[in-house]
Amino acid sequence: MTFDRRIFNFAAGPATVPEEVLKQAADELLNWQGLGASVMEVSHRGKEFMALYEEVLQDLRTLMHIPDSYAILLLQGGGLGQNAAIPMNLMSLGKNGPKADFLVTGIWSEKSFKEAEKYGVAHLVASSAEEKFNTIPPRSTWQLSDDAAYVHYCANETIGGVEFPNVPNVGSVPLVADISSNILSREIDVTKCGVWYGGAQKNIGPSGVTIVIVRKDLLGYSMKITPSIWDWEKQSTNQSMLNTPPTFAIYMAGLGFKWLIKQGGVKVIEKRNQEKADLLYQFLDQSSLYENRVTKAYRSRMNVTFFLKDESLNAGFLAQSNAAGLVALRGHKAAGGMRASIYNAMPLEGVRALIEFMRDFERRA
Ligand SMILES: Cc1ncc(COP(=O)(O)O)c(C=O)c1O
Repeated sequence: MTFDRRIFNFAAGPATVPEEVLKQAADELLNWQGLGASVMEVSHRGKEFMALYEEVLQDLRTLMHIPDSYAILLLQGGGLGQNAAIPMNLMSLGKNGPKADFLVTGIWSEKSFKEAEKYGVAHLVASSAEEKFNTIPPRSTWQLSDDAAYVHYCANETIGGVEFPNVPNVGSVPLVADISSNILSREIDVTKCGVWYGGAQKNIGPSGVTIVIVRKDLLGYSMKITPSIWDWEKQSTNQSMLNTPPTFAIYMAGLGFKWLIKQGGVKVIEKRNQEKADLLYQFLDQSSLYENRVTKAYRSRMNVTFFLKDESLNAGFLAQSNAAGLVALRGHKAAGGMRASIYNAMPLEGVRALIEFMRDFERRA
């Protein structure tokens, strides 16, 4: 399928980027800041890029209200890289040796849990695997340990479409939050976690840069084996530039932050995200063809998963939606069904167009 116009792209990530951002990047591609070169061609240590870098950090600090007691690192290796980096940087804070607690509410937090087992004791606090990752285990069932260095959870499970409505309360142990798929989509109190991390490729811009926001008192506890580029303290004292940073991805993330500031910031985008998700879930709930299987209180505002009750219609649904310019609705292979990822850059019109198509498809089914 080829298109001569912009599609509505429901991909889970890399995902849709605001048209304004793409246009600005295109305009500046051959000649950035009058340098006669693009941003990707200039030194990361030059004064122009360093100024951009500082502005990117400042904009993120402003958008998320990140206090000075937290460092912001712009790294590589994605969320999966951090699944290794986090235990290497923090696990040795365990009272009786390297140990951390894990809440498993989907495939991503399960991956974090499994990766951490390489570095110490990974303790399972609770899991919703038996409920097919369609819910969050009740707080009363959580088995927190008393000697863990930190508690890890995934704030939004991109594959299952399960989101924590609030930051969980785990007492005084530092919380570590994977916010790969809901960063900047809703207001959060940064001080409620010791570490927040995630890639830029869903709510911010292209892939290639991984954001780690870490409370400064948690720096300096890395295991000896930690590769320097993933040693948070070393990166923090070297402006995340121990190795050549992903300059173009950082520039694009910066344009994404400016776009978000122009929209009115996280508060405004959160309202819009809530509206988009409400519309879609309301439609699913009244339909006799489609269903969402996630416990209502934990439905994701970012990744709306749904199934056609008659699965023989799946192929037709995907082919026809694609032809209508509503693209990438196939669910993750581990979950099946469909998934509409409606991150910050997905306009309300995209969600309305999807509902219109789905209503029409149901009528014809
Ligand atoms: C919630 C979550 N965590 C982690 C990851 C892995 O991130 P990356 O691909 O940046 O390594 C993803 C990727 O989709 C994700 O959705």
